[in-house]
Amino acid sequence: MRILVTGGAGFIGSHLCERLVRGGHDVAIIDNFNDFYDPAIKRRNIEEVMGTAHDCGREVLLCEGDIRDGEWVTAIFAQEAPQAVIHLAAAAGVRPSIEKPLFYEEVNIRGTMNLLEAARGAGIRPFLFASSSSVYGDNPKVPFAESDPVDRPISPYAATKKAGELICYTYHHLYAMNIACLRFFTVYGPRQRPDLAINKFTRMISGGKPIPFYGDGTTSRDYTFISDIIDGVMRAFAWVCADEHRYDIFNLGESRPVELRRLVEVIEAETGKMAVIERLPLQPGDVQRTFADIAKSGSILGYRPTTSIEDGVGEFVRWYKER
Ligand SMILES: NC(=O)c1ccc[n+]([C@@H]2O[C@H](COP(=O)([O-])OP(=O)(O)OC[C@H]3O[C@@H](n4cnc5c(N)ncnc54)[C@H](O)[C@@H]3O)[C@@H](O)[C@H]2O)c1
Repeated sequence: MRILVTGGAGFIGSHLCERLVRGGHDVAIIDNFNDFYDPAIKRRNIEEVMGTAHDCGREVLLCEGDIRDGEWVTAIFAQEAPQAVIHLAAAAGVRPSIEKPLFYEEVNIRGTMNLLEAARGAGIRPFLFASSSSVYGDNPKVPFAESDPVDRPISPYAATKKAGELICYTYHHLYAMNIACLRFFTVYGPRQRPDLAINKFTRMISGGKPIPFYGDGTTSRDYTFISDIIDGVMRAFAWVCADEHRYDIFNLGESRPVELRRLVEVIEAETGKMAVIERLPLQPGDVQRTFADIAKSGSILGYRPTTSIEDGVGEFVRWYKER
């Protein structure tokens, strides 16, 4: 199958593209290599994807451009003739979305609609959309289940991801597209975005720099290892490729939340260095905790994450040191 992956040069996208070519698929990547973080990191990710594709005898085509440009996106669909779409490209990050809400709206809502429109026009049915655990906001109930109300997002980022899920449903309803919206819970592992905690803390602790420690350390995140996420995405991909008319939302998390203070201890143990802690107040838009209920993903997709925080951070730190 030829699969179009948006955001394929990024952290999750590059791992996914490698898994797809290993599984015998050809891939067309859309990415604009923006400078949200150093684009050289994304170029390196792409080199690794290309190397894997070469080893597997598969094709990866790189289409450099912006998903906000609807005409360009449609032209790429005509040129590459994909049979399925996995839409990961986004303006990511909670805090920057408070600074630039309209930019987040353009990329995450208009950009997603451009992809849906192009897929509809090309008659493509299987479509995956990368949503986020942020849609749960300050959900008082744990663990967070897909049936919980998510109409109180507390950041523009979260609101745009919720909007993406809604518009995906509309395209499923009107055009018989098969769509799964995947709510990723804080993903980490080799190639993790440098703005995210585990990468940032490892870098700062290794360099003897103070780490920003928001709140009293009891905030918790359901950190999910990249290989578990990719396994979940592949299962959801098989699910949307079925003949039946399908739309659903799935949590992809580890379902084992880790407090911030525990995370720092694990990174200290793996790097062999003590952290210097700079205590700061909790930031607007940050939620107290995330905790995925994965019963639905388990029963429908067969999703069973396996990586403990100790093993996952160990693998990340090994990768970080080698690089
Ligand atoms: N990493 C996480 O913990 C996490 C958690 C929840 C949801 N998500 C979602 O998963 C997806 C992938 O996240 P990631 O961590 O791999 O991020 P990433 O920033 O590493 O990857 C996103 C890629 O999309 C590309 N991109 C961004 N805007 C674009 C545009 N306008 N046109 C074309 N390409 C564009 C970027 O250049 C980048 O390569 C995103 O949708 C993100 O919101 C990630």
